[in-house]
Amino acid sequence: MNLTAEHVARLRAQFPALGRRVHDLPAVYFDGPAGTQVPQRVIDAIREYLVHHNANHEGVFATSVASDRVLDEAHRAAADFLGTADSGTVAFGANMTTLTFALSRALAKTWQPGDEIVLTRLEHDANFTPWVLAAEDAGVTVRTIDIDPSNCTLRLDEYRQVLGPRTRLVAVGCASNAVGTVNPVKQVCGWAREAGALSFLDAVHYAPHDLISVEDWQCDFLICSAYKFFGPHVGLMYGRRELLEALQPYKLRPAPNDLPGRWMTGTQNHECIAGTLAAIDYLADIGRTVTDDAALGRRAALASAFAAIRPYERALLDRLLDGLSDLRALTVWGITDPTRRHDRFPTVAVTHARLAAKPLAEHLAAHGIFAWHGNYYALPLTERLGLEPDGMVRIGMVHYNTTAEVDRLLDVLAKS
Ligand SMILES: Cc1ncc(COP(=O)(O)O)c(C=O)c1O
Repeated sequence: MNLTAEHVARLRAQFPALGRRVHDLPAVYFDGPAGTQVPQRVIDAIREYLVHHNANHEGVFATSVASDRVLDEAHRAAADFLGTADSGTVAFGANMTTLTFALSRALAKTWQPGDEIVLTRLEHDANFTPWVLAAEDAGVTVRTIDIDPSNCTLRLDEYRQVLGPRTRLVAVGCASNAVGTVNPVKQVCGWAREAGALSFLDAVHYAPHDLISVEDWQCDFLICSAYKFFGPHVGLMYGRRELLEALQPYKLRPAPNDLPGRWMTGTQNHECIAGTLAAIDYLADIGRTVTDDAALGRRAALASAFAAIRPYERALLDRLLDGLSDLRALTVWGITDPTRRHDRFPTVAVTHARLAAKPLAEHLAAHGIFAWHGNYYALPLTERLGLEPDGMVRIGMVHYNTTAEVDRLLDVLAKS
């Protein structure tokens, strides 16, 4: 079932930030790809943790016991969110970048000079530079899959050419945070496996838009960040159990050696892990609402939530892309073809014939519309497109955005 305008109005009412006004107009948050807003229950969960459960891990006294109960439930929720039955395979950490640096160091210890890893040009730099640096340390060759610049999709045919017996790792994003392209990651993980390589997925931009399914995709590792899916600033990492057990992470001696503790360096951000649990339950409750089934289990509820979010976001995307096609001064980077729009999310990057990205974003900001300009760290892509140093303006929509907001944006762009 699709999300209706009434559903969205009720969901929006849960987000205090969405009540903000700028120059006496309601603020329009098109900055979700850099971090979404949070519902009140996430704020409440963080407060509740700090007021009632604030303690370190594995003590024998009341607050520590209560804290561990919350953290265990957060692990179970994260496992439901990522699509694994084994909550021991999910580690929390500071953010995607930090977790990826840690994992890349542990993996690089297993590489030999002459080995190869495969990256792509469509990536956020957090799924590029950590691997390049690890490869430099280990004497490993980096191969890079190119894009088709006409629509910012991956040149998938190149995987056939670069994968081989020396390939140790294939790292790819599930979706581009700059231009919204969704990649066929299950297929890419299969090609990596056939070549005897491990697969790593950056699901940061994918997470607010569609259901992550690590078991179905059969990836070896996947990382995302809760602050992109209506939660606080925490990263989440999934790894296949045998690999997380066999690899040697850089860790302190007294820290646990079992899963997931051996991958969770230092004292964690417990209050924000509690907030992440609340964000996942917020999404699950969308699924329970649209199916009118309050008893739906968390994973099934998340699947129903995204089944409802997808067509709603697609309608926003169509309205924006169709409106932009009438504005001659604007160029859209990425898929616009209506027959291929299912291969992208409603994250739309544009450049203007007369205005650089920053003044264009300032023009939007003056009208209460929040949108990012620049490269959003998707530097491998903006370099490939020849768009440095100005970059693009990114209109990033999520399910709390509305058609009225899209129309307001199009009006303001028409006057630019
Ligand atoms: C696609 C993508 N990957 C990785 C990152 C880095 O995530 P984090 O800020 O959690 O390190 C981002 C952040 O914008 C992103 O959009």
